Amino acid sequence: MRFLITAGPTREMIDAVRYLSNLSSGRTGIDVAAAARDAGHTVALVLGPTPLSPPDGIDVLRVVSARDMRDAVMAELEAADVLIMSAAVADYRPQSVHPGKLKKGEGNLTLELVRNPDILLEAGDRKGDRIHLGFALEVQDAELHARRKLERKRLDALVLNGPENLAADRSAFRILTPEGLGPPEEMPKAELGRRLVALAEELAANRGTRS
Ligand code: C5P
Repeated sequence: MRFLITAGPTREMIDAVRYLSNLSSGRTGIDVAAAARDAGHTVALVLGPTPLSPPDGIDVLRVVSARDMRDAVMAELEAADVLIMSAAVADYRPQSVHPGKLKKGEGNLTLELVRNPDILLEAGDRKGDRIHLGFALEVQDAELHARRKLERKRLDALVLNGPENLAADRSAFRILTPEGLGPPEEMPKAELGRRLVALAEELAANRGTRS
């Protein structure tokens, strides 16, 4: 099958030298991409700004902002059998990018932020029989929010985790599917990669997707 995987943070420029971003390292998505390749699948990895190296033997599309990532995902979507959105996409970006370097003044500075596109939500509208997996980093009322997200984004499965997983080597999570919430699991991210590839294969087989 062909796997389309996103990884890393996005970077939203404020001016020529400053940006908004988050703590994502891209480790999870990179490990999922390596696991999919090792399982014999073809892989396209859409990778936000990270110092980590992507695995060899796969297609890598490097992006910076959420809008870049949206364009890359939409261009690759139709060819993919499985989409795994593990990127930590910035929900907001500055309304405009200041040309050059913003000079400091005497007082405070207010930045107007506008919503970024929700890539997974958009991809959900064009889902067809493709398998879609997402992540949810929830702090409060985790299960309730995750269930809403699963439905709204038309996901086959959602990996529910907490902020302690960001930029860590291990991952603690639960997997939510329309059938229900799985037990707590904890493992190195490389193993999570294999776990998710196996899950996507199982979901695809149950749905009769081509392999
Ligand atoms: O709504 P929330 O950001 O918690 O959803 C997380 C899931 O949605 C992740 O799989 C993430 O990659 C994806 N996402 C997205 N576009 C956004 C925000 C999140 O595709 N703008």
